[in-house]
Amino acid sequence: MPVITYIEDSGAEHRVTLQSGVSLMQGAVAHNVPGIDADCGGACACATCHIFVDPAWGPLVGPRNEMEASMLDFADGVQETSRLACQIQVSDALDGLVVRLPAAQH
Ligand code: FES
Repeated sequence: MPVITYIEDSGAEHRVTLQSGVSLMQGAVAHNVPGIDADCGGACACATCHIFVDPAWGPLVGPRNEMEASMLDFADGVQETSRLACQIQVSDALDGLVVRLPAAQH
């Protein structure tokens, strides 16, 4: 099963093993990773699951979808690597993925 590393702004790391098919948001919430509030429950309507995808993984994770890009317009500290964790589905191909949490989410 894919292992995903979430890194808080403080540098605290959370390595979790997730089942393929769940979203990065669901995986974070299920493992009590701080900073992923997911207020809208994954409906792409809150941006409280904002993460930065490690640049090395960008091509494999893929680009933002249209709705996600609109939501990110309202998020703090958006960068080129910004994504919404509820819009990224875990798969075996993402085994080893590293994502970081924005300073505003802790
Ligand atoms: Fe609300 Fe991702 S959980 S946008």
